[in-house]
Amino acid sequence: MADLRIGIVGCGFIGTVHSFALKALTDSHLAAAAVTHVCDADPAKASAAAGVHGAAVAADVETLVDEVDVVWVCAPTSVHLAIVEAAAAAGRAVYCEKPLGRDLAEATAVATALQSVPHRVGLVLRSAPVFAALRAETMSGSHGRAMTAVFRDDQWFPVGGMYGSTWRSDAVMAGAGTLLEHSIHDVDLLRWLLGEPEWVAARTANFAGHEGVEDLAVVTLGLAGGATATLASVWHRVSTRPSTRRLEVFCQDALLWLDDDNLGPLHVETSAGASVVDCPPPAWSDAWELPDEIRRPLALYATPAKEFLDDVASGAVPRGPDSTDALAAHRVVDAAYRSAAEGGSPVLP
Ligand SMILES: NC(=O)c1ccc[n+]([C@@H]2O[C@H](COP(=O)([O-])OP(=O)(O)OC[C@H]3O[C@@H](n4cnc5c(N)ncnc54)[C@H](O)[C@@H]3O)[C@@H](O)[C@H]2O)c1
Repeated sequence: MADLRIGIVGCGFIGTVHSFALKALTDSHLAAAAVTHVCDADPAKASAAAGVHGAAVAADVETLVDEVDVVWVCAPTSVHLAIVEAAAAAGRAVYCEKPLGRDLAEATAVATALQSVPHRVGLVLRSAPVFAALRAETMSGSHGRAMTAVFRDDQWFPVGGMYGSTWRSDAVMAGAGTLLEHSIHDVDLLRWLLGEPEWVAARTANFAGHEGVEDLAVVTLGLAGGATATLASVWHRVSTRPSTRRLEVFCQDALLWLDDDNLGPLHVETSAGASVVDCPPPAWSDAWELPDEIRRPLALYATPAKEFLDDVASGAVPRGPDSTDALAAHRVVDAAYRSAAEGGSPVLP
């Protein structure tokens, strides 16, 4: 079978990360695919991305869709719906970045379009070995029931530094702030680790002053059996902290924690003592002659890309996270914003 032809739409920050991950996979024959087309509203970005792969620059999304088998949606959230609908109408497989849309209604429309084609959503943290290890420990049954999780996610307000664009400070483009744009990853992880919340309560605040773009969200999730999880998501101005996550999960018989979402390790403390679980990247990434600090974060994006391409190539239903998972996270985020609008009272997701 011929290699899958991939088209990347949006060659900015995350489009470049995906481009490098795809290049690493295809160069080392870890995926039977090639990036053949790219498209960006900014011709210079399109041309730079095309140069990495020897790909063609498509004049617009429709042209790209016509020429490829798989569409990689890496443009800003505000245009996900139009791109996904164009790709789905042509029956193309779609890898779509999170969040699906700027609000629940738009996310639902994106999810509906995705459901008609093989697809996967870029909730990549599920592919991080440290979170997979945390999930395995939490669900193993050997630590008693999970009681509570304390999640802190902080990053500098993403309009500078490694972020080369300013749309995240514009509510019309981004939909909202740190909870939707960034911490939908965390909401997805908490659901994946601990189950569906029964109620959601939240407060949000806006320190930077970009209207409709909160830079602080503190969310409590009420889980089955009296368990809870709290998430503090903050966009600050500490330029030395580009993006970091710390997560502690208290089970009846263990504290499990991590403070590096890329590299791990996972720490486990029980009455028998403390241990450290190493969380190596997949063995196939040994094929890359790259230093560990580059190989590991690249593998975070290459792992879901490889799984998706393998699934599309074999005709299997792609592994998740899919649009149903993403929409469930959107419902929790939407509930958090509704709760915050009501002063923090618990609401149903
Ligand atoms: N999963 C993750 O870890 C992760 C990380 C960062 C961003 N994201 C998501 O990826 C998306 C893009 O974010 P980013 O940081 O790369 O933004 P960005 O601004 O850096 O890049 C977006 C690119 O899309 C281009 N673009 C805009 N409209 C377009 C259109 N209609 N057609 C083609 N190209 C268009 C822009 O010119 C720009 O180059 C957002 O939805 C964001 O939430 C996900």
